[in-house]
Amino acid sequence: SVTARFIHRQRDFPGEHFSICTTFFSLSLSLQVQRYLERFHLTREKLQEVSERLRKDLIRGLGKHSHHKAPVKMLPTFVRATPDGTEKGDFLALDLGGTNFRVLHVRVMEEQQRVLKMDSQICAIPKEMMQGTGEQLFDHIAACLYDFLLSHNLERETLPLGFTFSFPCEQKEIDKSILIRWTKGFNCSGVEGEDVVKLLKEAIRRRGDYDIGSVAMVNDTVGTMMSCGFRDQSCEIGMIIGTGTNACYMEEMKNVKRVEGEAGRMCINTEWGGFGDDGSLRDIQTEFDVVVDEMSINPGVHTFEKMISGMYLGEIVRLLLVRLTEDGLLFGGRTSKALLTPEAFETKFISEIEEQDNGLENTQKVLSKFGLKWDTVDSCVVRLVCDAISSRSARLCGAALATLANRIRVNRRQERLKTTVGVDGTVYKKHPNFSEELRATVRLLAPKCDITFLVSEDGSGKGAAMVTAVAQRLARQSRLLEESDGETDDEEEEEEEDQ
Ligand code: GLC
Repeated sequence: SVTARFIHRQRDFPGEHFSICTTFFSLSLSLQVQRYLERFHLTREKLQEVSERLRKDLIRGLGKHSHHKAPVKMLPTFVRATPDGTEKGDFLALDLGGTNFRVLHVRVMEEQQRVLKMDSQICAIPKEMMQGTGEQLFDHIAACLYDFLLSHNLERETLPLGFTFSFPCEQKEIDKSILIRWTKGFNCSGVEGEDVVKLLKEAIRRRGDYDIGSVAMVNDTVGTMMSCGFRDQSCEIGMIIGTGTNACYMEEMKNVKRVEGEAGRMCINTEWGGFGDDGSLRDIQTEFDVVVDEMSINPGVHTFEKMISGMYLGEIVRLLLVRLTEDGLLFGGRTSKALLTPEAFETKFISEIEEQDNGLENTQKVLSKFGLKWDTVDSCVVRLVCDAISSRSARLCGAALATLANRIRVNRRQERLKTTVGVDGTVYKKHPNFSEELRATVRLLAPKCDITFLVSEDGSGKGAAMVTAVAQRLARQSRLLEESDGETDDEEEEEEEDQ
């Protein structure tokens, strides 16, 4: 129960706080707080149900005729292979869609199986630009890239470029990628329905002072999977829990009905953030989730993401704190201007508040900064609120990841699956017990899968280079095959016999 979880967490508090916090539960007030918190609690049965709903939605998304209306888009990425360790070369990478826009110069080294970030530069994207015209946005990107090339003496080279563009795109080829819709804080006009590679190339052409080589488009989940894949070749899932949330995994080609060909595998960008957009998660959405959605720039879009990711968690906490205060259950019933300001409660505060050793102190600092009059019981309640909301997020992600792992295991008809998940994102990396809670949920819902978690170091940047490198390796290999005519057929036959 919520009380048991709370007492468990509070055990690490110094004795004084512990007794004050438990006394709090003897007050009738605690029942009213609990009633709110319980709405965020998901039982094992409920999580199982959610995982089962997602399983069905994955199938809808993959279907040739059902994918148009599917809330989980299951986008083919045209990434057909994970790294084999022989990739090499120098690449440029662009990374748009996380906390910052970045330009990177990356070197993939075959001998040491390492991906080196040679240089990188952060370029701010002002909020107005995130919601301005597409042309402005791409001109800005092209200008940042030029500055980078100039300051690193690369302007005369035409390096291949990996573009991590972390939004749902209908990919036609590795270098043709049509934006389906903006998510997170972006909403630039004239980009939805357009080929992002074309918009980038046009912006570079408008300047006319430099050129780029071949382009590979990459979602951040794919970049994460690929950058971990160089270190651990059984990495077949990439997951992001940061500003947004999403995952990709290697699916059997025969199940990817929208792309021709039956052989091998292709990486699918699930866009699981859209899970629930057809109303299928209504039973677990709270009134606070509904408000977060209504107040967002894209109501009705990315329901699952809005219950989970960094862009929204702080706001859910804030709304609940306001309600508890208005009900007289916190801060003597008095809110503050800061607490009433939308988006003022940042998701990073949740991590600070839930920290094991300094959590209570951190809570009190945050509450003072918000101009609230708190006592120790208030701080305990605020910790509980953060815990309820971040736990729900971790468990929902765990349930979704379990769905993917179970699917891969069943696809391959294996009794047990051993696989690796590459993970990135501030929520996963910075929150003190998020990863633990997520893993516990996966163990519960995917008991036949042994999953190793590999935290990706800059997957968006290095991974984009990796995708470009793998695409080049595959092109090289297929050229070699074509050139060695005659021998090719025999080799192929042999492989088939082996299987
Ligand atoms: C959003 C985007 C998705 C991305 C995720 C994590 O959900 O739609 O493409 O992977 O955020 O950044």
